[in-house]
Amino acid sequence: GDKKVAQTPPMGWNSWNVWGTSVTEERVKASADQMLQSGLAGHGYGYINIDDAWEAGRDADGKIQTNEKFPDIKALGDYIHGLGLRFGIYSSPGTKTCGGYTASYQHEQQDADSYAAWGVDYLKYDWCSYEDVAKGDHSLPSLQKPYLVMSDALSKVNRDIVFSFCQYGMGDVWKWGAETGGNSWRTTGDIQDNWGSLHDIYTHQAGHEVYAGPGHWNDPDMLMVGIVGFGNTHPTHLKPNEQILHMSMWCLLSSPLLIGCDMTRLDPFTLALLSNDEALDINQDPLGKPAARVTTADDKDVWARPLFDGTHAVGLVNGTDEPATITARWSDLGVKGKQPVRDLWLHKDLGAFADSYSVEVPAHGCVLLKIGKSK
Ligand code: GLA
Repeated sequence: GDKKVAQTPPMGWNSWNVWGTSVTEERVKASADQMLQSGLAGHGYGYINIDDAWEAGRDADGKIQTNEKFPDIKALGDYIHGLGLRFGIYSSPGTKTCGGYTASYQHEQQDADSYAAWGVDYLKYDWCSYEDVAKGDHSLPSLQKPYLVMSDALSKVNRDIVFSFCQYGMGDVWKWGAETGGNSWRTTGDIQDNWGSLHDIYTHQAGHEVYAGPGHWNDPDMLMVGIVGFGNTHPTHLKPNEQILHMSMWCLLSSPLLIGCDMTRLDPFTLALLSNDEALDINQDPLGKPAARVTTADDKDVWARPLFDGTHAVGLVNGTDEPATITARWSDLGVKGKQPVRDLWLHKDLGAFADSYSVEVPAHGCVLLKIGKSK
């Protein structure tokens, strides 16, 4: 992966959570159009990423082909670039992708060359059938190998391409993803459209923050917001407070922000959730220091991170089924004296507080705060 790219976490859209294998060129174009028309592009969402199911076989020279749903992928890339957006694609290091389509095994350089010729800016590279090659060998060299091969191939093309690892956290990938060429790496399995999955994923991010920074990020998977459903589109089963927690945590964690929903049917709640600049500014903070879980008790957490302007972002996160009062203590942030506190979802200054700030947080909810005076 290129060291110059992804200096802040990538923001954009990915086709998988809503379209699954029924993604088409038309649906990708419509998503790109809507990225502009909804105003989300102006908030920083720039990547339009095709996930699995664009691939066909290879031609006589071994060159990867697109299936009938993508008649002219170079033209699609041009279309996306013409809107001022960036173009992402998906493959796997094995012989088949997770969806059973043709993947890159032993064609890595050829595929990297094709991606560059199509104008690709982002590659998600998903382990899946590489298991047949690794044959259960999950030693560090074996886990690194396919990613090193593709990283080397990408470094030989004349294009900056974000390299996104997808191997679900095997071998503590956060510890070696950056040195293996990753600009991001999935830390967990696939996010599912329910609270249990969201809860499981965010609680498993604690401790990974020390491994991420500009150019190399932990990826807890795509945003489960709006109309999702793998082609059978339905509203996400996450309740509004759960979605606020989801977005707050992904901002605190410096996660890639890849919208997973039907862009042509953005409702006002989803749009507000995705376009809160005060939350996005945390995700995109130039210091690039993801939040640590500074306290946790009975599923009530305080997550905090320093920001470049000298303030701190704090999430009071209630994983329980009842409302609960949660306290941010200045001693956990390393600050002293009276500090101004601002609520970033209410867009409201709450006053100045000495030593701590306490508030009731809804069940499965999060209060997102900015604490301190900016320099
Ligand atoms: C895996 C990945 C998903 C998606 C699918 C595509 O499950 O983790 O994010 O890319 O494969 O088949």
